[in-house]
Amino acid sequence: MIATRLRRCTQLAALFPKCPDFRLFSSFASAPPLPSSRLLSPSYPSQLTRGTCVIFPKHLFSTLSDTVPSTPDKSTFERLYVHGVVQPQIDRVVCNNESNSGKDAETNPVKEKDSEMEMSGAEKEAWWLLNQSVVNYCGSPVGTLAANDPGLCNQMLNYDQVFIRDFVPSAIAFLLKGEGEIVRNFLLHTLQLQSWEKTVDCYSPGQGLMPASFKVRTVPLDGNSEAFEEVLDPDFGESAIGRVAPVDSGLWWIILLRAYGKITGDYALQERIDVQTGIRLILNLCLSDGFDMFPTLLVTDGSCMIDRRMGIHGHPLEIQALFYSALRCAREMIIINDSSKNQVRAISNRLTALSFHIRQYYWIDMRKINEIYRYKTEEYSHDAINKFNIYPDQIPSWLVDWIPEKGGYLIGNLQPAHMDFRFFSLGNLWAIVSSLATDRQAEGILNLIDEKWDDLVANMPLKICYPALEYDEWRIITGSDPKNTPWSYHNGGAWPTLLWQFTLACIKMGRQDLAHRALEVAEKRLSNDKWPEYYDTRTGRFIGKQSHLYQTWTIAGFLVSKMLLQNPELASILICEEDLELLEGCACGVSKSARTKCSRKAARSQVLV
Ligand code: GLC
Repeated sequence: MIATRLRRCTQLAALFPKCPDFRLFSSFASAPPLPSSRLLSPSYPSQLTRGTCVIFPKHLFSTLSDTVPSTPDKSTFERLYVHGVVQPQIDRVVCNNESNSGKDAETNPVKEKDSEMEMSGAEKEAWWLLNQSVVNYCGSPVGTLAANDPGLCNQMLNYDQVFIRDFVPSAIAFLLKGEGEIVRNFLLHTLQLQSWEKTVDCYSPGQGLMPASFKVRTVPLDGNSEAFEEVLDPDFGESAIGRVAPVDSGLWWIILLRAYGKITGDYALQERIDVQTGIRLILNLCLSDGFDMFPTLLVTDGSCMIDRRMGIHGHPLEIQALFYSALRCAREMIIINDSSKNQVRAISNRLTALSFHIRQYYWIDMRKINEIYRYKTEEYSHDAINKFNIYPDQIPSWLVDWIPEKGGYLIGNLQPAHMDFRFFSLGNLWAIVSSLATDRQAEGILNLIDEKWDDLVANMPLKICYPALEYDEWRIITGSDPKNTPWSYHNGGAWPTLLWQFTLACIKMGRQDLAHRALEVAEKRLSNDKWPEYYDTRTGRFIGKQSHLYQTWTIAGFLVSKMLLQNPELASILICEEDLELLEGCACGVSKSARTKCSRKAARSQVLV
């Protein structure tokens, strides 16, 4: 049982559509009459208003028959699609992509040379679909649906909600296009949700928690059947499968807030008292004392993009990389005054310890694996080499042959007597983007992806993790999860949304060649396959067995990747460069001799692997 207060916005408006198909209806019905042949004439798009597209349901389009009028009216559509007589499927998107006005061009950070003239068909379609997924609250855009798959009208689960993590690539796409309003609204509205009173089964989670997702609901206003109001209804994990609190939401919120300021120049937003309080509440939650001995964040399984049981409880890399990134971003944004100065000091200390810990203990390459292979165990002393008491037999057999001569990566998790040797893409990529990894490590990670292209990219970038859990491991670690079977979904599936993060990492390290290659692979398939959420099999050949189509972060990730490659300098809104001051703290802290002088040189020698 959860007790909540709904955020209200009174509006005497018609009910929001319950089914996402209903939205299609308006564009469909107001479109010019369909041509009588199944093939659209090349001149058809010019009959549309400039800058608009129309989606035609596949069934209607491919089997135009006597019973279906060429100018469909509302009742035809309702009969066929709303009442579920026919499985609604959209198959054709027809666009008139002449530019709509000069307004965008004025504020658009992506230069004119990249304007719509040079857009591929897939890009035009992606923009149209992204705009279609926008969710409004009280008449203003506040986010994008996780998926807008008309084929799954009644089985959307919670994909008809705005997910915080899913919205990030949408937000970046809009920002790169010069559209800041939706991002600003999103940041402010989610901030309001943060301060909700929430209790789950008589227990209240921490105050700074951000929801995993939220939904705009339209409800009758005070029992009045004629008047309605819109409310924001968040999910902090209390309805989510597994009931896990989304640790990554607040971290993403901070990262997005900084990106918004950097690209729009609207720093006033991050300086507002409520926004400053929001940042500090999130960090209070992350920095609060507990029993933990490590500087990494201790979380339960499924508290990030991988939101089901996958054996990532403890100190998973993805959370640590986002935590580091959020701390770096927050340090830039928090206004220093008497009430904040202790927290800022705590942030710096944590950054120092966190980067040392991850660089030192999560990194593996040929040399390190060989070292682990020869570890002595049960070392009881301050100077132990094998600090976490890792038994060499834990080194999995696949890794011995898989690790390339050149390159390496950050392991998925580190706990007492346990190293999770799986390669997790998001954590490794975000460690590059945030400079949690050293430059040498970052180069090593990209070298590894290059060397292991057939395992990590193959037919669709990018594997969420490698390798998959199989047989008994799958049974025990996932709890026999039928969605996470080997090489599917979170268990070794390929997630096209990761393309934008891969592109960022490549740009930071000057390896655009890799990002171009990955983008080419994705562009061949995404539009034809209807923008799936994920792909299955070892090489990512099949559309995922339960994959949603028209998944928004697949669409947005593709667009962001395209735009960043055209304007790599804009990657700076998300990147953090190495901060040598933090390393100095590190050199002092870890030095065995208290008298070792703090210097940049000492710092480098301490933490650069
Ligand atoms: C799945 C993903 C999660 C995502 C959600 C909505 O649950 O694991 O990361 O946020 O779908 O797309």
